[in-house]
Amino acid sequence: MAGGPWLRALLLASLCELPALRAAGSRPGLTPSAPARPAALLLRRLGERVRRLRGGAGPDSDPRAGWLQQPLDPFNSSDGRTFLQRYWVNDRHWAGQDAPVFLHLGGEGSLGPGSVMTGHPAALAPAWGALVISLEHRFYGLSVPAEGLGLAQLRYLSSRHALADVASARLALSRLLNVTSASAWVCFGGSYAGALAAWARLKLPHLVAAAVASSAPVRAALDFAEYNAVVSRSLASAVVGGSPECRAAVSEAFAQVEHRLSSGGAARAALRTELGACGSLSRAEDRAELLGALQALVGGAVQYDGQTGAPLGVRQLCGLLLKGARNGSHPEAYLGLRLAAQIVMHSLGQRCLSSSRAQTVAQLKATEPRVSSVGDRQWLYQTCTEFGFYVTCEDPGCPFPQLPALPSHLELCEQVFGLSASSVARAVAQTNSYYGGQAPGATRVLFVNGDTDPWHVLSITQASGPSEAALLIPGASHCADMAPERPSDPASLRWGRQSILQQLQTWLGQPPGSQVKVPPCGKEGADTGGH
Ligand SMILES: *[C@@H]1O[C@H](CO)[C@@H](O)[C@H](O)[C@H]1NC(C)=O
Ligand SMILES: *[C@@H]1O[C@H](CO)[C@@H](O)[C@H](O)[C@H]1NC(C)=O
Ligand SMILES: *[C@@H]1O[C@H](CO)[C@@H](O)[C@H](O)[C@H]1NC(C)=O
Repeated sequence: MAGGPWLRALLLASLCELPALRAAGSRPGLTPSAPARPAALLLRRLGERVRRLRGGAGPDSDPRAGWLQQPLDPFNSSDGRTFLQRYWVNDRHWAGQDAPVFLHLGGEGSLGPGSVMTGHPAALAPAWGALVISLEHRFYGLSVPAEGLGLAQLRYLSSRHALADVASARLALSRLLNVTSASAWVCFGGSYAGALAAWARLKLPHLVAAAVASSAPVRAALDFAEYNAVVSRSLASAVVGGSPECRAAVSEAFAQVEHRLSSGGAARAALRTELGACGSLSRAEDRAELLGALQALVGGAVQYDGQTGAPLGVRQLCGLLLKGARNGSHPEAYLGLRLAAQIVMHSLGQRCLSSSRAQTVAQLKATEPRVSSVGDRQWLYQTCTEFGFYVTCEDPGCPFPQLPALPSHLELCEQVFGLSASSVARAVAQTNSYYGGQAPGATRVLFVNGDTDPWHVLSITQASGPSEAALLIPGASHCADMAPERPSDPASLRWGRQSILQQLQTWLGQPPGSQVKVPPCGKEGADTGGH
């Protein structure tokens, strides 16, 4: 991916964080020219930032990285090709060979040492004397096969392949680390990796004793219109600092953007400068990119509300948009949106807001693993071949009426991978029939969600019996439960983390040596997370 300033900042931060990057000598050569960045991917940038700032390993921490040689095609025993999959180990709490193993699964991004130092697995490990291991997802981070990201290679990228990796890693790591068969392995993960954790328990019950799935979208959805329905609800929710006026102001700001976009000429040129758009906006598809980026900015404020590393939460966004509001009219809403865009660009280290559609497509077509290390191409491939998850505005409650519609998202699958819209639709249906959507029928899986998070509608928020448990945390955003504990955490989030601990006690038994005080979840991370 041609790197703008935002990308460089990201990679430099990664270099500090991941010793293995240096060891592998794979520092990407960047071309400093192109300022472009894909609008559709702004949410991914926000997510990376939140994960990175959340998962910082402390100076005293020393998790070990290792590499497993895994079959590229685990479903064809005649195919001897392999790739190296990275994992991290934190054994500082490990009570011995029979103690549980907490396996933190990576998702659609790279995994750093923080993955075994913060979050549920690390926070809960002291209570059980558990060994904490994390496993980077194949094709992401440094676990990209040497042959690169061409289409022929991407055939080996799917959640099913990732689960096969979990199975072989579970067996190989047991041998390597001398873990006995008496140890219970518990999978953890958030977002897509949360779905993987649940599916690991579903498909590999002989290897995985239980799973904690945070913000896990287990139902694939071609048209994810509900995303913006939740964004709309959350913008109006007083619990997170929203209000009906705020939602109205967001709609008003978008109406003003659309008005300027459709006016053309001077109004459009002014808007380009005011919002910091990278390209000229003369093409309809580029205007759609800009609207998509603005929607992702608002969606991101909701999705990562209140989290360390999120440049804006709902309260701050609403504050900006409602400044100067008079009697239910919001003349300043557009100005507020401009300020919000500046804040987000600044925090992501980006010079401008959205690129041209042609540049987006060109970047997503790049196949060298090094320059694609942020994983955008890989994740797009997984959405085109498994999950969809295309955020549209077809819900009546959607506050962004002119957003690009589903066909524009599907066109990207066609343009980048040559995959037709009908094949994407079929793939999404197959995913749901293979995993069971929102009725997977897995036992000993705890689904944890926040009701502010747009993704919770694709997850499981109601328990169906004692062994398929669910928590819906009021006012919590995407994977908020996985973040290290902070003094400012609301009571509902503390309750949620405590409930996870209690659920594990039910499934794993009381932690051995009950004289040991069970630390509150996240305690560990609070010391290392840099808050
Ligand atoms: C399995 O691998 C062998 C060896 O690479 C290859 O010849 C064969 O076509 C593969 N089979 C399938 C079904 O992909
Ligand atoms: C593995 O565990 C066994 C049984 O406790 C022990 O005898 C052996 O020394 C251990 N091996 C390693 C390499 O730690
Ligand atoms: C605002 O509302 C108040 C009370 O409803 C009204 O008296 C006032 O004239 C309104 N101001 C404007 C600028 O519309």
